[in-house]
Amino acid sequence: MVIGVPKEIKNNENRVALTPAGVQELVKFNHTLYVQSTAGIGSGFSDDEYRAAGAEILPTIEDVYGIADMIMKVKEPIAPEYGLIRENQLLFTYFHFASSRELTEAMIERRAVCLAYETVEKADRSLPLLIPMSEVAGRMAIQEGAKYLEKPLKGRGILLGGVPGVPPAKVLILGGGVVGTQAAKMAAGLGAQVTILDVSLPRLRYLSDIMPANVITRMSNDYTIRELVKDHDLIVGAVLIPGAKAPNLITRDMLKTMRPGTVLVDVAVDQGGCIETCKPTTHENPTYIIDDVVHYCVANMPGAVPYTSTQALTNATLPYALQLANKGWQQACQDSAELRLGLNVVQGEVVYQGVSDAFNLPYTPLERVMSGAYSS
Ligand SMILES: NC(=O)c1ccc[n+]([C@@H]2O[C@H](COP(=O)([O-])OP(=O)(O)OC[C@H]3O[C@@H](n4cnc5c(N)ncnc54)[C@H](O)[C@@H]3O)[C@@H](O)[C@H]2O)c1
Repeated sequence: MVIGVPKEIKNNENRVALTPAGVQELVKFNHTLYVQSTAGIGSGFSDDEYRAAGAEILPTIEDVYGIADMIMKVKEPIAPEYGLIRENQLLFTYFHFASSRELTEAMIERRAVCLAYETVEKADRSLPLLIPMSEVAGRMAIQEGAKYLEKPLKGRGILLGGVPGVPPAKVLILGGGVVGTQAAKMAAGLGAQVTILDVSLPRLRYLSDIMPANVITRMSNDYTIRELVKDHDLIVGAVLIPGAKAPNLITRDMLKTMRPGTVLVDVAVDQGGCIETCKPTTHENPTYIIDDVVHYCVANMPGAVPYTSTQALTNATLPYALQLANKGWQQACQDSAELRLGLNVVQGEVVYQGVSDAFNLPYTPLERVMSGAYSS
């Protein structure tokens, strides 16, 4: 298959869909790889490294879209790319269709095959192409939180791990899923005293088994949260209720009960946030202060560490990309229920119920589209 990797053009997006290592894997299976010049530069990969791995470098984004059967990207296509997308071209990337009618309608109009990273789903309902970014954000939450606890950055001026003779900081983590678990490991590793809250008792049992002794688990409820926020230095929001806005676990009135310089990192900001006073911020301007409490609410945290994020993402996407390239999307989706769930918009039809519901667009069962589909 002919596979194209364009340079991401969305503002501040430095990730790239394939590393040179990924290119080499696909070339090994006799696929032809075209990478747009400087596509990997933001993640630390040069054109020469891609060439050495077996890719051909093309000068423009038009060249890449014009030649490839499968386009591999990181972010959803944006308006300047719409016109470059061809009928039956396979696009394998994050789409998040339900958040954009414009994008959904554009992809319907282009009659492309849109396989979304975020809805590829395993039998246990886990989302293998979202997990790596949650892992990055969870670990980063502590790194950022520790930084903003420093006095010059308006924090309490406390060192996360303390020093001999001085107690460590207290870290509270709301939600013990992927983000919360990674955050807890990092905070515990730095020597902080960590508490994880979750509403799932089986999850708390698991965490209690695997976490070191400086991590304790508590059932999440309003009563406990109100007590704990009073003396915790760093609070990380990491809850998720699939398909719904995150619940406001920390309400505005609680801020007054916190100590000045407490830092809140609301990782769940991309789902509306679990802290009432949270509003999305950017890497250029990541924090703001309300009632002497520092809020960090960056909606795309992994974007700040593209070298790590690109590799984490491509480690997870490559096995799926190989299936798509080796078999063609139609056969690969017939053979793999995980990949099949990634199909959202196919040749002008919406085949994912959530997307059709979001915009009241007609839903077409996938079988109907697949039976007459063109195999690329
Ligand atoms: N800001 C970013 O850059 C970024 C990056 C990656 C992920 N995220 C977001 O982080 C959030 C967490 O993602 P995840 O992958 O860890 O999800 P996850 O599903 O693995 O974990 C969510 C956890 O929240 C728990 N939970 C639900 N309601 C709760 C409550 N009331 N109190 C305490 N716990 C509760 C669940 O039981 C679950 O264990 C999501 O909103 C995700 O979109 C943000």
